[in-house]
Amino acid sequence: MSAIELIRERAPEFAPTAGLILGSGLGGFVDAIDDAVAIPYAELPGFPNAGVQGHAGRLLLGNVNGTPLAVMQGRSHYYESGRADAMKIPIRTLAALGVECLILTNAAGSVNPDTGPGSIMLTSDHINFTGISPLFGEPGSARFVDLSGAYDRDLCAMFHEAAAAAGIELHDGVYMWFCGPNFETPAEIRAAKILGADAVGMSTVPEVILARHAGIKVAALSIITNLAAGLSGTPLSHAQTVAAADRAADGLQSLLLAFLARYQGRAP
Ligand code: HPA
Repeated sequence: MSAIELIRERAPEFAPTAGLILGSGLGGFVDAIDDAVAIPYAELPGFPNAGVQGHAGRLLLGNVNGTPLAVMQGRSHYYESGRADAMKIPIRTLAALGVECLILTNAAGSVNPDTGPGSIMLTSDHINFTGISPLFGEPGSARFVDLSGAYDRDLCAMFHEAAAAAGIELHDGVYMWFCGPNFETPAEIRAAKILGADAVGMSTVPEVILARHAGIKVAALSIITNLAAGLSGTPLSHAQTVAAADRAADGLQSLLLAFLARYQGRAP
């Protein structure tokens, strides 16, 4: 049985219009989902083994503030398998379920000393200089995906309205994808800054490319967990990333709830 067939069997009437991929520290968001049907990734063919500390691995289907939502609690990263298309089946499953808009969240390091740990950044654009695409080997002309406007203008505007209404400071910035799992060097961060990055991280960009290929609108939010390599005296570690993401999670969760209350189940 395919993932989509299994989901339809477990939640027959449910038609999510929005998807949400929860990154580090945001697991608490699932408490906000009404009457959730939860399906462990282990039961869904092609879904990842969400092995990273701080990520559970399950799909939740339920309503939040008037929006029928498919929530992925945990994702697969390129650095776990060396496969950039590790999220291909999950993203295409969301598209097949009818998801029109995908909200991605992640933890990221800031390249800008003025945007410190605890800040929330809405991605305005990304830089992928890894040389890797999740669409390698993809047949057909649809693989030549236009990524200008990849981060949907209307969704971003709605996030800014929601942030203003909820009194949450929301930065805009360019996210640069690094493969990980090692953190960057200070020289790489200096290069990232020259190239126009505001934040760096190890996720999200492959999923954005897959979502745009599938015709899904995208918005992405980062919790800034640290100043990037070379910008502070603190050594970087995964434990520090998870702890800082946990501390900042409340603000991002409030923002997501305020956004979904505006979204009301429909893309603008
Ligand atoms: N670099 C890459 N990924 C990250 C960082 C960082 O500094 N912080 C959280 N995720």
